[in-house]
Amino acid sequence: MEKTLIILKPDSVQRRLLGKIISRFEEKGFQIIGLKMIHISETLARKHYAEHEGRDFFESLVKYTTSAPVLVIVLKGKNVVEIARKMMGATFGFRAEPGTIRGDYAVSNRFNLIHGSDSLASAEREIGIFFHKGELFEYDPADLTWVYDISTGDIV
Ligand code: RTP
Ligand code: MG
Repeated sequence: MEKTLIILKPDSVQRRLLGKIISRFEEKGFQIIGLKMIHISETLARKHYAEHEGRDFFESLVKYTTSAPVLVIVLKGKNVVEIARKMMGATFGFRAEPGTIRGDYAVSNRFNLIHGSDSLASAEREIGIFFHKGELFEYDPADLTWVYDISTGDIV
């Protein structure tokens, strides 16, 4: 089972879209193992988006990310890194396909509601930045045997 870091960015909070977006991941079958509201500091924003330092949009990105509280979430599930990215859609709402989170709720060339780790390595790094061990919860999902076929010993 993989884990991924999701951030529901300031525009998701301000536009009251948190419930709708969280529901999509829950209904898909993913397990929430960590969730909290924080106000990302400038230092933390720069660390999280370090790969984009020096790009022309970097300062705007830091300003956006720190402009209001966010919800940080750790999701767990099979192939969750790739599937969550598919569910988010392309980076900007005007390009993202309808049916995706950004495609359904975003139009801006900067504000795009949600962040999701783009690889297993990024997920591990980002979860470590935002969560202490004690803030992540390992528990048996009650519907595991209906979300997956585990009858053969594998998770299918
Ligand atoms: P994210 O990291 O937030 O999940 O988004 P992403 O992978 O789809 O996009 P990425 O290329 O990593 O860009 C990170 C965030 O920077 C802002 N951005 N602005 N040309 C621009 O003005 C520009 N390009 C990127 C977006 O907020 C994007 O989510
Ligand atoms: Mg990215």
